[in-house]
Amino acid sequence: MIETANIKITRTQQSRLSEVDFDNLPFGAVFSDHMLVAHYRNKQWEQASIKPYGNISLSPATSMIHYGQSIFEGMKAFRNSNGEVMIFRPEMNWERINKSAERMCMPTIPREIFMDGIRQLIDLDRNWVPTNEGSSLYIRPFLFGTDPMLGVRPSDTYTFMIITSPVGPYYSKPLHLKIETEFTRAALGGVGFAKAAGNYGAAMFPAKKAQEQGIDQLIWTDAKEHKYLEEAGTMNMMVVLDNTLLTPPLKSTILPGVTRDSFLTLAREAGYQVEERPISTDEVIEGARNGKLQELFGVGTAATTAQVIRLTFGEETFELPAIEGREISNKIGKKLLDIKKGEITDDHGWNIRF
Ligand code: COI
Repeated sequence: MIETANIKITRTQQSRLSEVDFDNLPFGAVFSDHMLVAHYRNKQWEQASIKPYGNISLSPATSMIHYGQSIFEGMKAFRNSNGEVMIFRPEMNWERINKSAERMCMPTIPREIFMDGIRQLIDLDRNWVPTNEGSSLYIRPFLFGTDPMLGVRPSDTYTFMIITSPVGPYYSKPLHLKIETEFTRAALGGVGFAKAAGNYGAAMFPAKKAQEQGIDQLIWTDAKEHKYLEEAGTMNMMVVLDNTLLTPPLKSTILPGVTRDSFLTLAREAGYQVEERPISTDEVIEGARNGKLQELFGVGTAATTAQVIRLTFGEETFELPAIEGREISNKIGKKLLDIKKGEITDDHGWNIRF
């Protein structure tokens, strides 16, 4: 056992690294050798530990299972040609998990546990960061309530964990999306802006119905009128209409994506016209009919820049412009990925080296 400043480390006796087929990585199905665990009890965080990846034991009454106090984050680590590992804007994920925590009545996570936890984990599992094109090490921090108690109230005890998973692309081909106008992902004043586990569970039934019709995912619309685009659950949405890059403004129904923010920054710096404003389904559909809809794509950590090639709205399906000709998503998407991989200068200091 090795003691570091504040994290107790137990190394695995047997690495599973040699069993991994790095050329065929599904998303989130293979996990690296170690994981971080930190417990919150008696109103304080206890010393975190890193141990071999493995099952955890919970009471069947664990409050998170019954009432859903469970939140998470997603980040990606890339390894550059010098073998250095880089993580993109991890501070934003730390800030966001704490905003999710506050909304869900959970304790916030100290910066040292979050950042040092990632640092130590990456140090141990550095060789798990893939170097193949399109692959990365996905980092999944998560926090959940652990009181063994069926009363409906915030848990007094919590567990924070970080697991990591070498991944290939989340979406391996251009997407067919549907603008959803019946079901709702989030309403104003709800938890749509938080990375709460329940948001994802609640979206599965409508998504499954669409998938039965050959549609990959949904673009959610506002809960009140179903007239304005929101996000796609796994990614924020961007539209290029009449040479302007549009994305819905942040509000309580939309996840404040790290990729969203970075993409908008780079697009503005590249001189594109960018607007964060409500986008009506009417203008998108009219644009799809009259050719003014030039690009439609999603952006997210897992999704990266995910092109939408086909769009269903009501009974109609539109074929969208060829992907090769999409200037903004191709140019800015590539720039963002090149920065993350350390292949071009990172003028903003977004990449943190580990
Ligand atoms: C991410 O982009 O990190 C996400 O959390 C999306 C999805 C895999 C849940």
